[in-house]
Amino acid sequence: MFITTKCDLHCKHCSNLIPAMDGQIHYEISDLTGWLDELLSKIDCLYRLKIHGGEVFLYPRLREWIEYVDRQSKIKSIRLTTNGTIIPADDVLQAIANSKIAVQISDYQLPNIKTQQLIEKLKKFGVHHIYLKDQIWKDMGEVSQRGCNRFEDCNMKRCTSLYEGKIYVCSRAAIMAKMGKIPDEGIPLTLPEKKLKTELKKLYSGKYSEACTYCDGDTQYAKEIVAGEQE
Ligand SMILES: C[S@@+](CC[C@H](N)C(=O)[O-])C[C@H]1O[C@@H](n2cnc3c(N)ncnc32)[C@H](O)[C@@H]1O
Ligand code: SF4
Repeated sequence: MFITTKCDLHCKHCSNLIPAMDGQIHYEISDLTGWLDELLSKIDCLYRLKIHGGEVFLYPRLREWIEYVDRQSKIKSIRLTTNGTIIPADDVLQAIANSKIAVQISDYQLPNIKTQQLIEKLKKFGVHHIYLKDQIWKDMGEVSQRGCNRFEDCNMKRCTSLYEGKIYVCSRAAIMAKMGKIPDEGIPLTLPEKKLKTELKKLYSGKYSEACTYCDGDTQYAKEIVAGEQE
């Protein structure tokens, strides 16, 4: 789930295409809770919520958001992904430490990066964290019609994304649609429960996502690249 599209880095091959977006924003907390409440009212269980963006530690009302998601009993586990450049305020760290959230830290070997400082601080507060050491990135290519669907081969095929009140096959698909580069296939959360479930099942089967024909995905067809190289 995107809570922001603002970011302090400009990664050349960002899978979410964040640097290429116009008008990055923090979403209103009332919109975020509204979207998640709508989803949770129509499903039995959410195995894992991944909070991401953009850079999540830039989000101004992060402590409130953390406390809200942690209260949702249908959400069984929560991950928050950060680029490791920002040390959050102590009250945010305390809220994470008191929650079921695990922080996932990307490994970008950039000059002056604060990742080690962040890890020390997470340890001090007793925050459960995972350092994604030696990440390998893929160049997912230009947004253009390939004439074939890469869904089955893609390591992001379980990265179903909640973006602006709709569900997309992945986060890149959501942003490609937002940018008007592909047809908008987002499934509105406002659909009646039965219809929403039918559409989600279709989405998970992967056969119907046109977005996956506009991307090389995280697959063997995409070139391996250095993680986090800046524009
Ligand atoms: C798009 S980022 C957003 C969260 C945060 N800004 C960050 O960079 O960690 C989410 C995850 O996608 C990974 N990622 C971004 N671009 C990628 C690419 N081209 N190939 C593989 N993984 C990528 C990041 O390393 C991070 O773990
Ligand atoms: S990969 Fe993360 S840090 Fe890099 S531009 Fe995308 S959102 Fe920002």
